[in-house]
Amino acid sequence: MSRGPGRPLVDLFRFFEWLGTTSWSIALHESRYVFLLVLMIHVLTVSVFVGTAVMIDLRLLGKTMTHVPVSQVVTRLLPWSEAGFLVMVVSGTLLFYAAPLARYENVFFRLKMAALAMAVMNVWVFRRAVYRRVGEWDLDPVPPRRVRMVGALSLILLAIIITAGRMMAYQDYWFG
Ligand code: HEM
Repeated sequence: MSRGPGRPLVDLFRFFEWLGTTSWSIALHESRYVFLLVLMIHVLTVSVFVGTAVMIDLRLLGKTMTHVPVSQVVTRLLPWSEAGFLVMVVSGTLLFYAAPLARYENVFFRLKMAALAMAVMNVWVFRRAVYRRVGEWDLDPVPPRRVRMVGALSLILLAIIITAGRMMAYQDYWFG
């Protein structure tokens, strides 16, 4: 069996190889309806997670709802975005578990996970460093540059995550 692009970490490779032989992984992989149901939840929840995140980012960029205080947009939409993110992570982990080695060796899956880690860091920086001073720019139709940069980076990373998620199915076509 080829070990994919570059030489992966042996331990992870063997761990995911073993994980794929566990009975629940095989059951999920071979299930007629459960896998599809999980995939459907994963794809449908993109609309909630990404939909609300994009609206927050566009307000941070001063592109929409410019007459609405930023804190109101964040307070009303962020809980939906966070709930959607949780469902994406749980359903995504199940999709991963159904074929762990194939996912681990998938270049687009790795790109997606890297972009996801950066997106989480971007939200962390926003919460810890930028949003703390929202009182200074809450009513600004176009927020300061550091706020707009968080919004722009979030949009770019979301586009990479979704595209990489879709491209996973084309790994063999591109690198086969
Ligand atoms: C949180 C943000 C996430 C977004 C926006 C996202 C988005 C997507 C999209 C658009 C697809 C393509 C679905 C299709 O057209 O068939 C996909 C597939 C997939 N995602 Fe995610 N995903 C996210 C998180 C995750 C996580 C955290 C994992 C795993 C740990 C994951 C694992 C997968 C897998 C394995 C597939 C391929 C399913 C298949 O076609 O067999 N995703 N994702």
